[in-house]
Amino acid sequence: MTETISHPMAMNGKDPRNLRGDLITPERYYSREWMQREWDHLWTKVWHIAGRQNEIKEPGDYIVHNFMHESVITAKQADGSLKGFYNACGHRAQKLVRESGSQDSWTCPYHGWKWSIDGSLLDACDRDDFPQGDPVDKIRLIDVRVDTWGGFVWYTMDNEAPPLLKYLEPLPEIYRNHPFETLVRIRQVRVALNTNWKFSGDNFNESYHTRTAHPQVPAVIDQDHFTSRYEMFPMGHARIIQMGRPSLRDRVPEGKDHPYKATLRFWGIDPDQYPDYETMAMQGWLDLKAAKRKQWKEKGFLQYEHMSDEDLTESPFGVLFPNIAFGAAPDGMSFFRWEPHPSDPEKCYFDYWMMAYPIEGKTEYVHRTASKPYEFKEAELEVRDYDGGRGVMDLEDTVVFQDWGLTEGQQAGWRSRGYQEPYLAAQETRVRRFHEVLHDYLDGKPPGR
Ligand code: FES
Ligand SMILES: [Fe+2]
Repeated sequence: MTETISHPMAMNGKDPRNLRGDLITPERYYSREWMQREWDHLWTKVWHIAGRQNEIKEPGDYIVHNFMHESVITAKQADGSLKGFYNACGHRAQKLVRESGSQDSWTCPYHGWKWSIDGSLLDACDRDDFPQGDPVDKIRLIDVRVDTWGGFVWYTMDNEAPPLLKYLEPLPEIYRNHPFETLVRIRQVRVALNTNWKFSGDNFNESYHTRTAHPQVPAVIDQDHFTSRYEMFPMGHARIIQMGRPSLRDRVPEGKDHPYKATLRFWGIDPDQYPDYETMAMQGWLDLKAAKRKQWKEKGFLQYEHMSDEDLTESPFGVLFPNIAFGAAPDGMSFFRWEPHPSDPEKCYFDYWMMAYPIEGKTEYVHRTASKPYEFKEAELEVRDYDGGRGVMDLEDTVVFQDWGLTEGQQAGWRSRGYQEPYLAAQETRVRRFHEVLHDYLDGKPPGR
């Protein structure tokens, strides 16, 4: 077991003195002009996730990631490396492939130009009919920069963007003891929502709403703002680290089923040995860390090997600027991503990936804040329309379901003549910081360059 990594780059994310105080004006949530500025200065500058590395294991495997009106292919090459290309034919720009798959070459559905997965042109119809020269010798697909971290495949449309590890700084260092590349994506849902994409940037940068919107959470993750740690980093990323024990201010009534007790029992701790609720919460939490340290191997939790005391029980929740959030728990990762709609600033797409570490002999996984178990196997993508909640009712027991329920009311509020500049709690400091980093991008001064 290793020591907790409290990174020297971290600014206190609960101290508004670390902000400039930029205003969060309302038109950013509905104006097409803002949307265009975000395309020009944000989305074409950041690193995006195309998918998981285990989707492209063999040469010829490729992922298609559509982002707004753009589409990018990342493909595994014969030598094991990865290459990325814009998904637009070099002849007259037809979209080459519609979905992820596995092929030795791509044949354009329009005039049949045949492309190698390395981006070169292999063949074309009537090669002798081009007065300007045989296209096979002259034309390639346009490259996109690709890299990997954490078991994810990333790309950027910007040749001047910092290298991926610099862009993510210091998260790769902070999470170096987590074997993210071994995570299995056991649920993969994309939901079309009626709100601007920044709903989620705001929402995931604060846990102030948890007591109201997610009343099931305080029983397993301490929601007290004074027991949590808040971090903001120079590249725009941020974290909150909440303690993995019951909040003392939100008690589960005596006699009611308590999920934390089940966790204690699983690790061989009798919750009834403690004289009162406080002792169960506080001493039980220390006993849990000790029990995990002692029994991880025999119980098959091999991913615990290099985790710190903090990693073993706490709930670190990170927002990777601008559109990814992830909770790196000891048993898995909840991963969330939100992407703008191609043309309507009041719509977006929300990706919910539940990922878990394989445990020998275990065929199901239950997240600590949910009740339904998921079958432990790689999941197919499910695409849903939110439809007032009707499109996602089977996800009713998840925390994000409750967030989705707030999207349309929030969008209406941003549109209202009653909109006021947000009146933020200290624990919402990361919300304003998110907009300040966004402003830096839109002003052509993104961090790290
Ligand atoms: S656009 Fe692809 S072959 Fe013509
Ligand atoms: Fe939430």
